[in-house]
Amino acid sequence: MGNLLSCANIRLGTRISEAVEKRIPIHHKCRNCGRKCDPSSPSNECVHAKYTRTGTKEQPAIIRSIVPDDRVPWSTPLDYSPLEFTAEKVLKSTKEYVDRDPRNDPNVVIPWNQDDRLCDRRSYHGKYEVVRGVPQNPCGRTGLTGRGHLGHFGPNHAADPIVTRWKRDQNNARVRHPTSGQPILQFVCIRRKDTDEFAIPGGMVEKKERATDTLRREFHEEVLNFPDLDENERETLMLTIKNIFENGGTRIYCGYVDDPRNTDNSWMETTVYNFHDEEAKHLALINVNAGSDATDAFWQDLDSKMPLFASHADFLRRVAALHNSHW
Ligand code: BGC
Repeated sequence: MGNLLSCANIRLGTRISEAVEKRIPIHHKCRNCGRKCDPSSPSNECVHAKYTRTGTKEQPAIIRSIVPDDRVPWSTPLDYSPLEFTAEKVLKSTKEYVDRDPRNDPNVVIPWNQDDRLCDRRSYHGKYEVVRGVPQNPCGRTGLTGRGHLGHFGPNHAADPIVTRWKRDQNNARVRHPTSGQPILQFVCIRRKDTDEFAIPGGMVEKKERATDTLRREFHEEVLNFPDLDENERETLMLTIKNIFENGGTRIYCGYVDDPRNTDNSWMETTVYNFHDEEAKHLALINVNAGSDATDAFWQDLDSKMPLFASHADFLRRVAALHNSHW
């Protein structure tokens, strides 16, 4: 395997390991902060307005109660009566992997803060509190109890692969940004089917899966497609990519994310890796194509002005800093 990687000119990054990131960022996208962020209001001034409404077409009237910025931590006093909401599709699910509500059924015992092998219920931020039978969001209040659209109480784990290459001109030279003068990185970007927003092609960790397996599976499912390669070339490239995903990534982040689906009892955490093709020898050659959960997939220049799903802009900012590229 080492040989294969050195033939493809790949420098190994941080080996995949699951170290803990202690800092928890404050959340905005799963909160109604009260600054006129009612999407139905004509004088709406809040950039996060669309997240105050968290229902579905079938259950439209779900609006989070107001939690001002300084009242997010559980330690600050607040006269707080959040709405309880769990989407119908979650409540009616018969999948073994979707939790049943232990508050409604004393026979439901969930091993909080543990990895029961079907599902890893540990948080990257250490032990979370279990209050009145269900986990408490370690990042504070969201204005909503229940699971919202998420299948698990507590952490719901995802994984995000950020695949990058340098933007190059016809002479294969790196293109620099006219304002910053820094070379421009490109990443594999998708448009999500569910929210129609631009995003990294990540996804949920499935039952019994490790986050590091999810990275490769999601990338395959969502975007992978090769330009005119014969079967042999395709097989070699697939093997190289498999090895890169297993050994060549650099960990960018793992932990809580500012996801619009988060509630007081359920939240998203993700593991983000950057897979970079410095010399345009392998990943850079991929001709991306939209797969299962995406309506579009393409190589996109990294730029701070691009609006992105959940915490994805924050992850890309870290990648830009890692490679000293334009942001
Ligand atoms: C997405 C990931 C994202 C995570 C947390 C998942 O549904 O597929 O890309 O990082 O949610 O927001």
